[in-house]
Amino acid sequence: MAHKHKFYNGKTLGILTGGGDTPALNSSIEFIRNRAALLGYKVYGIRRGWKGLLGNGDVVDLTNQPYDGYYGGTALLSSRTNPFPTKKNPENRVPQILNNIERYGLDVLISIGGDDTNGAAKRLYETEGIKVIGFPKTIDNDLRTQTIHHYNGKKIEAVLCPGFPSGAKGLMELTAHLRTTAESHSRIIVLEVMGRDAGWLTGSAMMGGAELALVPEYEINKERKDFFLETVKETYMRSRKKNLIIAVAEGVKWYDDVKDKTDYVFASSEVDEFGHPRFGGVSGVIASDITNKLGIEARAQISGYYPRAGKCRSYDRRLTATLADKVVDLLLREDYGQMPVISKIVTFPELEEFNTTSIDMGSIGNKPLPEEYYDIQGFKFTDVYLNFLEHILGKPERLEFKYDFPIVLPKK
Ligand code: F6P
Repeated sequence: MAHKHKFYNGKTLGILTGGGDTPALNSSIEFIRNRAALLGYKVYGIRRGWKGLLGNGDVVDLTNQPYDGYYGGTALLSSRTNPFPTKKNPENRVPQILNNIERYGLDVLISIGGDDTNGAAKRLYETEGIKVIGFPKTIDNDLRTQTIHHYNGKKIEAVLCPGFPSGAKGLMELTAHLRTTAESHSRIIVLEVMGRDAGWLTGSAMMGGAELALVPEYEINKERKDFFLETVKETYMRSRKKNLIIAVAEGVKWYDDVKDKTDYVFASSEVDEFGHPRFGGVSGVIASDITNKLGIEARAQISGYYPRAGKCRSYDRRLTATLADKVVDLLLREDYGQMPVISKIVTFPELEEFNTTSIDMGSIGNKPLPEEYYDIQGFKFTDVYLNFLEHILGKPERLEFKYDFPIVLPKK
């Protein structure tokens, strides 16, 4: 039988997804599964990230099963489980992981995740010799992929992670839609965007027409706050239809006049197993400061899980296929402890295997916005960042009511 001659017949590959979901996770799983199966692997799905390798394990067989890669989220489920001892959970659960890798006969593990999930994978590779290949994922787009953005002869170290293109597209559309309600009420809308410590996702609101933006990379202390409020007033008064959309990252630090302190706004006092707090609510604080100090009506809108929700968009679909091709290369070379990445920022038609490479998982970590991407004085993203986004999202999206009515003066 032909399949007996496949390279990895009799071997098993496990896939897991950890951390916050994205619309491109099922797409990544589907493409990795399909390609690994072509090489002869039996493909197992480990459910709820590293948690699926604890206790008795929670593993499903994905080989030859139907799979819908356009459906967002992850059919393998996700969790923020850290197998290594942490403050929140001091127990070392690595022996349980090793035991289940053996019990389920997993020869290679593909860990789809951000810095936390892949960080744990990297440690298992380094300390226990587990054969892992990392696969990038994060809606925050802050996992260091060493992807170069060529702009006007300059080379900028940027990031491109599956999930971000779909999330950014959704946020661009949401922002464009908010324009109609902002205009109808001559309001300022303060749109809060997830992204934890990084402003990459917040920037995509500018492709949907947001005029100003605040990012976690630059805090708004007492002096900056006065300057920011002046900018808000001026931009609002200059706007033709007296309205404004300000995108603010959930992780921006904002000066509180009452406490005389510049700090984050948290949604809860809980931290996860990787020590991350949960942000939420800074848009409400900023909107009420604008209303109280400038006398302009402002409303907060938390975009929440919207960027993470819904279908995988076409850019992400092709990006995950391209990176899965590189996984095949790594599997064939038996080159573990690596993560496939896109080597340069490209448009949709250029997403091909010759634009991929792989990086050592030891060098991943988090990558904040490059300084070329944000204009600190103007409180907005630069044209350089908009150029980065145009590669991924295409043209900016705007809604516009095209008509203006002539003013009628009373007869008397
Ligand atoms: O890291 C991804 C992310 O979506 C962050 O942008 C956000 O702060 C966090 O996860 C939310 O986590 P949870 O899904 O646990 O509420």
